This record gives sequence, structure tokens and C-alpha cells, in this order.
Amino acid sequence: MSATPDLQSIVTHAVERYGGHAANLMQMLRAVQAQAGCLPGEAVDELARRLGLPRVRVESTASFYHFFHDKPHGAYEILFSDNIVDHMAGKQELMQYLCEQLWVEPGKLSEDGLVYVESTSDVGMGDQGPAALINGYALPALSKSRIDLIAELIRDRKALADWPPMLFEVADNVRRAGPLLGEALEPGAALRHALELGADKLLAELDASNLRGRGGAGYKTAAKWASCRRAKGENHYVVCNGDEGEPGTFKDRVLLQNHADLVFEGMTVAALAIGATRGLVYLRGEYLYLLDKLESVLSRRREAGLLGLGILGRKGFDFDIEIHLGAGAYICGEESALIESLEGKPGKPRNRPPYPDTSGYLNQPTIVNNVETYACAAKIAERGGAWFAALGTPQSAGTKLFSVSGDVKRPGVYEYPFGVTVRQVLADCGALNPQAVQVGGPSGTCVSWKEFDRRVAFEDVPTAGAFMVFSRERDMFEVARNFAHFFAHESCGFCTPCRVGTSLLKRIMDKLAAGKGSAYDMDQMKSLMKIQLTMSHCGLGHTAANPVVQTMEKFPDAYEHRLKALAFEPAFDLDGALQTARLITGRDDDWAHIVREEQ
Ligand SMILES: Cc1cc2nc3c(=O)[nH]c(=O)nc-3n(C[C@H](O)[C@H](O)[C@H](O)COP(=O)(O)O)c2cc1C
Ligand code: SF4
Repeated sequence: MSATPDLQSIVTHAVERYGGHAANLMQMLRAVQAQAGCLPGEAVDELARRLGLPRVRVESTASFYHFFHDKPHGAYEILFSDNIVDHMAGKQELMQYLCEQLWVEPGKLSEDGLVYVESTSDVGMGDQGPAALINGYALPALSKSRIDLIAELIRDRKALADWPPMLFEVADNVRRAGPLLGEALEPGAALRHALELGADKLLAELDASNLRGRGGAGYKTAAKWASCRRAKGENHYVVCNGDEGEPGTFKDRVLLQNHADLVFEGMTVAALAIGATRGLVYLRGEYLYLLDKLESVLSRRREAGLLGLGILGRKGFDFDIEIHLGAGAYICGEESALIESLEGKPGKPRNRPPYPDTSGYLNQPTIVNNVETYACAAKIAERGGAWFAALGTPQSAGTKLFSVSGDVKRPGVYEYPFGVTVRQVLADCGALNPQAVQVGGPSGTCVSWKEFDRRVAFEDVPTAGAFMVFSRERDMFEVARNFAHFFAHESCGFCTPCRVGTSLLKRIMDKLAAGKGSAYDMDQMKSLMKIQLTMSHCGLGHTAANPVVQTMEKFPDAYEHRLKALAFEPAFDLDGALQTARLITGRDDDWAHIVREEQ
């Protein structure tokens, strides 16, 4: 079927805007949806035709990402952040209140076709929740009075551009600054020094700094860059991982919001080190509100000769950066899934090896690093490797940004040298009667009150940045259940142990929450978790069971008091599922039941 003239011109415009390159399919889909309100089958047909791609290729990308939809979501789509800290701040009540105000049910378009309200995974505003997205733009610090105002603006059908700006103001909440957040870099200063050193000495400085990646795994940055530099290819690429999807993490948001020069300078230093001419920032869709500001920083840097051809007058040093937006998929933070997404495909992790440093974006040598890693690299180029190595601990050099949220008086971003104790951070942020801290997000480590003297560093408790605090009033089972729901929602579905395992784990946790769990379910969860841990294809599956494993071990009471049923009860109410059939056939005899209840 061919698209209507309007849809045709929308698709034409999107294809032209992104150079007709199939690798830009994600950006084209975003542009078409923004104009057409959704991605109907005709738009998929037309995109496939215009790009010369099989329809299934476009369809699989369009259906993979949570933010794409084939039916309209109305003039106002509101997605409430579903992280546990948003729940603790009253997310569920506020969402319900908004739905009542607007006469809409979650997950269904309102009868007048005006509004759609639903939950989404964490939107990166844990320090100012509950938060939501409206048509992709962040609405932080929601309260009942703000919801009243939002409902009124929607009922009046006011365009978002005319809404009070204070509704969209995202605070930085920097509470403790060190060299990254507190000492401004003069744009170009690191790059000038890097040019004086040249690529080899620059890599030697990076090596001496002992910088390890800030995205979680802690791989040594100099080793990654050196290997990429050695790899043969037509082009080399510098990719910045700005997906920041781990619930409870928001420090990259702050770096990009107010220290973008530092990050872009780090990427440009990397380009010099590995011999790249093109850089790509993968910005999570939830940070759409940052896009214009980031583009203007890039323009300013081009005008200042810090990007483009012959950077800082050095002939042959050509490099530029473009920004690609994601569309709501946590798995795209995994580096090979991220590269797939940058190539316009569903974000499914690749088989590795080969690793991106030899075969990454468009199968060319590519480095993928976290936003904060590039910020550190810029500082190292400016101040030298020895300066950086002197900060932190022997195996964890430098400072680390923490995203602190939950039961604390002062949520926000804190910069500490690696090696700080959990207890120190709790004291500084004004933790309220803390029982546990989830360090590094759901895939990280649950640190109980007995372990608060542990140190945050690769030697002890590693972290990508999240630091979620739970007071003694919180139910750690509910925390783990929220995380189990998150992983089941975000599993990409590529491999069975993770797809089925995360879904079963979620269902058993729900069964326990409903008071129907037994010791048998606990054993079943333990076997499931072992399978997930050992047989999954990527890091998501390997870590998805962590919150349940760790809370079971550290807070056994939170589980045991729920085990009301001594014998096994099925996780699904099979008999209940037959009720409709019984009503239709008018039967209610013993044979129409799976198990007849004791009279
Ligand atoms: C499921 C999953 C999600 C991830 N999400 C992110 C992310 O949001 N940001 C990030 O920098 N790294 C993330 N990573 C780690 C990346 O795969 C990769 O290791 C990292 O970007 C490398 O950068 P670094 O060496 O600077 O840490 C994730 C890994 C997994 C398995
Ligand atoms: S482990 Fe999960 S997220 Fe990773 S590839 Fe398998 S299904 Fe996808």
C-alpha cells in the first residue's frame, strides 16, 4: 500500500534530512513519528522503499524501541518514570491523580484522542522525582499542584511551547564538586596540550593515569584506545555512550547539561589518539531536552576551530561530532547494542569477539566510552597522567561522580576520589535512618547497614554511579521486585535464559507479593537465577538477578514473612483463567475446574 501524500512528504523530508543513509534510520523514525504522531504501516513501507531496505528491517527497528508506536498517542503523551525512588516519592499516586483529572486510563488513549498516560523506565531524574516525560521532554519535581496545572494546560489544549518554563526546569543539584565538576576547563586547553604531546605521548599519559572506564566494567581506557589505534580500517570512530539507562543514575545528565565542552574536548582528544575523523554521541531519548543546548555547544566549538577541518590550525587533524538520539531501550547502553542502534537496527547485543575496538560502528575500529570517561580524559590531557593517578586508590584512580537519590536530605551529584566509604557519602547527603544502599543501580551491589564501611572502588564496591538510599522504613523485597520488573521489561528478548528468566522471576516476585509464595518458589528462583547468570548472552542477563539474589541473602526476613503458603501454589491462576469459558458454556461442575476448592 502506498502512503498518503502527507505521509509521503513527511517521510521524504525525514529521509532527506538524514542524508538518505540507512544507518540513520532511528533518527528518521523519530522525525516521522514527531510529525505524523505515530509510525503507521504505510510510513514503514515508504521508508523501506525510499531506503531500499527490506520492509522487515525497518519494521524490526520500529517495533524494538519503547518510544516508537504504530498507533497515535494523542497530542500529549505523558510517561511517568517508574524507578523505585520515583515510587518512594509518590509516583503511583500522582499518575493516578492525573488520570482522574483527565479521564484517562493508563496505557489507553483518552476517548477524545487528546492524551495518553503510561509508565516508562527511569528517566534519569532520580534527584528530582517523581518525574515524567511529556512528548519526550522532561517534567521533573512533580507534585499535586503541578499535576493540577498540567491537567489544566492539557484541557485548554495549550501548545507545550506556551507552558510555564518552570515545569521543564531540570536542576543540576551538584552537591560536592572536585576536578571534574568544580574546575572549569578553558575550551581548547586540553586539546592544545594533546597536540603538543602527539598521539604516542598522549597515550602514554593516559596509560600513566590508570584511568578506567566509568560506564561500569572499568576497562582500562588507554588499552582500549591503543588497540583501536592499531586496528586497521578505512575509518576510526569515537563513540560517546550517553545512554545512562541504569535506574538511579543521572550524573552524565549533569555533565552534558553544564560541562559539555569537557566531554566534547575528551572526544576530540580521543580522535587525535586513535586517528578518527568522526565522533558520535548516543544520547538517550529521555534527554531530548538537552539536544538543542548540545548542538549549540558543538556549533560554538566549530566556530572556535575546535572541531571541523584542521583543528587548532593543525593540518590533517579533522574531526567532527554528531548526536544520535535513542528511543527508550536500556539495553542500548551495552556497547555493541548501542552500535547496532547507531546503525539504525534493533539494539540487540552482538556476539563478541570481535570487540568494537577492531570492529565497531559500520564494522570499523571504534572506541565506545562513557560520558564521564571522556571528561576524565580531557582533564588528563590538560593536567597529565601522574596528577590523575595520585587521586583515588591504587586500582581506581581519579574521582568518581555519584548520583545520590532516595531517602536523603540532599539528593544530587557528588564527586569523590575513589575509595570513599559508603558511610561517608551517607553522612554527606543526610541519609535518613539508612538500611541499605543500592550502589551502581539494579545491576550493581546492594550494601546493607552492616557493610557501610565498605569502600566504593573497583577493589571493593564498583559503580557506574548510582547510589540509591533506602531507610529502615522501606521494604527491601519491594525494592527488588521493582528491579525485577525493570529487567523483565528491558530484556531485549534475543536469548531464552534472559527473556524467559527475567519474566519468570518477575512473576514469582509478584506471586510472593500477593502472599501466595512458598519455599518451593524460593528454590525455583534460585535455580532460575543460576541459569540466567551463566547462560545469558550479555551483561543484562548476567546481572538481572542480582537484586533478588542479594536482597534474599541480606534481608531474608523481607522474603520469609511473605511465605504464607507452606505448599506449592502455581504462579498462575490456571483455574481463574478458565472462568470466562465456564461462563460461556454455563458449566460450573467439578470437571470444569482444574482444582475444585475444598467445600
Ligand atoms: C545492559 C548494559 C547497560 C549498559 N549501560 C551503559 C550506559 O548506560 N552507559 C555506559 O557508559 N555504559 C553502559 N554499559 C557498559 C558499556 O557496555 C560499555 O562497557 C561502556 O560504555 C564502556 O565505556 P567505559 O570504558 O568508558 O566505561 C552497559 C552495559 C550493559 C551490559
Ligand atoms: S541477555 Fe537479555 S538483554 Fe542480553 S541479549 Fe540476551 S535477552 Fe537480550
